Amino acid sequence: MSLRSAVLDVGYRSVLRPALFRAHGGDPELIHESLIAFLGGLGPAARAALRVLSGRPTSPVTVAGIRFPGRVGVAAGLDKDARAVEAWSALGFGFAELGTVTALAQPGNDRPRLYRLRGSRAIINRMGFNNAGATAMADRLRGLGVRRGELTCGIPLGISIGKSKVTPVEEAVPDYVASLRTLAPYADYVAINVSSPNTPGLRTLQEGDLLRELLTSLTREASQVVHPLGPVPIFVKIAPDLTDAQIDEVVGVVTDAGAGGIIATNTTLAREGLAPADLPRASEVGGLSGAPLTARALEVVRRITASTTLPVMGVGGIMTPDDAERMVDAGARLVQLYTGFIYSGSGLVAAINARRLGRTT
Ligand SMILES: Cc1cc2nc3c(=O)[nH]c(=O)nc-3n(C[C@H](O)[C@H](O)[C@H](O)COP(=O)(O)O)c2cc1C
Repeated sequence: MSLRSAVLDVGYRSVLRPALFRAHGGDPELIHESLIAFLGGLGPAARAALRVLSGRPTSPVTVAGIRFPGRVGVAAGLDKDARAVEAWSALGFGFAELGTVTALAQPGNDRPRLYRLRGSRAIINRMGFNNAGATAMADRLRGLGVRRGELTCGIPLGISIGKSKVTPVEEAVPDYVASLRTLAPYADYVAINVSSPNTPGLRTLQEGDLLRELLTSLTREASQVVHPLGPVPIFVKIAPDLTDAQIDEVVGVVTDAGAGGIIATNTTLAREGLAPADLPRASEVGGLSGAPLTARALEVVRRITASTTLPVMGVGGIMTPDDAERMVDAGARLVQLYTGFIYSGSGLVAAINARRLGRTT
């Protein structure tokens, strides 16, 4: 562990995290909202100071034609409405996936809908795509001067799109296409979220024929947006709860449709690997993330990379630099953090950066 990551780690775990986790009467969602508001409120000088503290991304890599300054990214869901978009590079991240946003703004599920399972280093959430909508995201990014390919915020920005809750699954295609059209000018890549467990019916869009129809329409739409860099790369984010046969089918469809790659994985419906103290929480409806997901996400990434050269972003239970290294060894070109960042802060980002993962590829 580098001195920088050790200092950040101790600082976060012993000072900042206890204070954060106690704030707002311990309500995880309010704490999350204040964290994002705090990061979003940092001015240029504060961001510069944070950058010095956090260190820069390492091991640049080009994936799907995009030059990433570092391999560790912000996973979707952390910054759903791009409120803290200027802060992520200052925390050492090499890219950030914003969203998930939907074509129509929506409130998400009733609260409470976010639970920390501390003994298990895990989270259960059933947020349900609470977001201000694709147009608000586009307005926000345009206001910041963000344009695809220009690294206005210092790092590539992916934008994750999902289906609006009121849109029936049978009408999902035009709903996703509308979001893509609105957001393509601002996104370095677009992530298609067909794997959240918290929108009824969404995961059925991972099935062969439905996924084929969706991706064919989206790649066609992407190719119609004229841009000097060509069509915006499309990544598909999948669930860890698919069978091997379903994973293989997704790989085939993604390849045939000319999509850019796969993001694996989203949260799981499984409840294995919880600490005894967290078992009462196991019955909460929603997706589980963090340490209980580490092994399964790795397995899914291995399964994908064994059969395709399509780029894969590995996400799910990366809680330590060793977890990140194993993801890259499994063939992931990039990795993303959500729960690990909540439990370990930017010290984890710095520690992974210090490994200089996959620097030869
Ligand atoms: C509170 C919360 C909200 C999330 N929201 C989204 C989302 O909007 N879109 C998405 O693709 N994934 C979302 N995710 C899933 C994460 O991006 C990630 O795939 C998953 O949590 C596994 O990674 P982790 O173990 O590092 O957290 C969310 C996760 C959490 C914990």
